[in-house]
Amino acid sequence: MSTELIKVKTDEQVGIITLNRPQVLNALNLQLIDELVNELERMDQDKNIRVIVLTGNSKAFAAGADINEMAEESAISIMQKDQFAVWDRMSLISKPIIGAISGFTLGGGCELMMNCDMVIASETTLIGQPEVKLGVMPGAGGTQRLVRAVGLRKAMEMLLTGDPITADQALAYGLVNKVVPVEAYYNEAIKLAKQIAKQPPLAVQLIKKAAHKAEDLTLTEGMQYERNCFYLLLASEDRKEGMQAFIEKRKAHFQGK
Ligand code: CAA
Repeated sequence: MSTELIKVKTDEQVGIITLNRPQVLNALNLQLIDELVNELERMDQDKNIRVIVLTGNSKAFAAGADINEMAEESAISIMQKDQFAVWDRMSLISKPIIGAISGFTLGGGCELMMNCDMVIASETTLIGQPEVKLGVMPGAGGTQRLVRAVGLRKAMEMLLTGDPITADQALAYGLVNKVVPVEAYYNEAIKLAKQIAKQPPLAVQLIKKAAHKAEDLTLTEGMQYERNCFYLLLASEDRKEGMQAFIEKRKAHFQGK
């Protein structure tokens, strides 16, 4: 559901969430994050949606946590609110999330981008974790996810200088999937989302789950997890349809069953 802070729509089987605080470069206040996570969870349950696109505007995906809001907090008040717990719910979303990013993607904005499974960036994107310059550090996964995404050395440089990297650097680092002109980033993300929306939904969701386990489990545990997901998919109608369609040399029609 659209609110003042997020705009929501669907295009075929793609759910699209647009962050909508342009006057503060989409700074992520608590209300925005709360509404965003609620909407992600709603879309995750919506049978008509198979892939989610998360975007901002061409000037800013998000310039980080709302500094004005954070400046009011004490160590105790922020701990009691447990304000980052809501972020943990994002990692439980089972449908793929594609980030369509442009402009400032900083701090919490970078952390939000790293919660996406794939990212299409405009040429004007700047990605960074500038928290160190404020006397703090990332709190929504920046140190953990960035190291896993780009390796210790590059992550350390970004985290300790606080300086942003360009879209082309992010591409070279493997932090984004593709860089396109600013006029094209949104449509490119929708195109990718629609392509994935045509795949069998149960397979897509278990592949996402298993791939994310690779960041947490040992190789032996991960291989076992993958195998169990594989076995599970053999019970699906979609795998019968997929294999039958291959044998009959026709296009498969997947229903997510
Ligand atoms: N929080 C609150 N307001 C923000 C904001 C933020 N993170 N980022 C930008 N804004 C506001 C500015 O205060 C300004 O508002 P006013 O017009 O009312 O003055 C408006 O957005 C436009 O910003 P600027 O005038 O600063 O625009 P600019 O083009 O000159 O600079 C910028 C852009 C380099 C992104 C600069 O705004 C900036 O450095 N922003 C802060 C980035 C940052 O430090 N993010 C990390 C936050 S901490 C965090 O995210 C913790 C975590 O791990 C979750």
